[in-house]
Amino acid sequence: MPLLLATIYESARLLPTGPMLQRCSLKHDLSFATGVTIPAGAVLVAPVELIQKDDSSWGSDASDFNPYRFLSTGTKGSGSAEEELEDFSSAGFVLNDPNENAAFLPFGSGTRACIGQKYIIQLVASLLASLLKKYKIRLNTESDNDSNTTLKNNLLRHHLNSHILFVRRDQ
Ligand code: HEM
Repeated sequence: MPLLLATIYESARLLPTGPMLQRCSLKHDLSFATGVTIPAGAVLVAPVELIQKDDSSWGSDASDFNPYRFLSTGTKGSGSAEEELEDFSSAGFVLNDPNENAAFLPFGSGTRACIGQKYIIQLVASLLASLLKKYKIRLNTESDNDSNTTLKNNLLRHHLNSHILFVRRDQ
């Protein structure tokens, strides 16, 4: 279960539904400790997709799919995915709270963050668990690697071109 949840977090990190978050202080200027002041009425835009792939927050493997970044063993390490896989196979998984990293924003952050986050993550986990009972996941060797995204109605649309295939377990 921790690995399944970590996989969902990692998918939401690399392929967030909403590409940006916006904030606006209507009445008061915002003064930051750095000395920067944002005037009232200005709209601040946080580019979620860029923040979630930024090396300074996620490390040098920021653009790789590595669910293990959300898991810990007793001994904390920051090795490669392969090294971490070995560590995790011999030890139990401990799932980290993804929101501990301020750069994890698929559900926003702060007082206006998504109230459905926990619900939807459990729902997706249940859906995947039910699918995995009946289907195996295989890489699609015929995929042409075209995974472009487009923006429509402020949502990212991913054209994954079936990199993976679900194959029935009884076949
Ligand atoms: C994959 C599913 C979902 C995603 C990716 C998602 C994402 C988001 C994001 C990015 C925000 C804005 C947060 C911010 O500005 O900091 C938001 C707000 C919100 N979400 Fe979700 N959400 C999802 C599902 C749900 C569900 C299932 C519910 C209700 C059961 C829900 C209820 C809300 C509400 C009420 C807000 C507004 C919170 C506020 O402004 O105080 N969301 N969501």
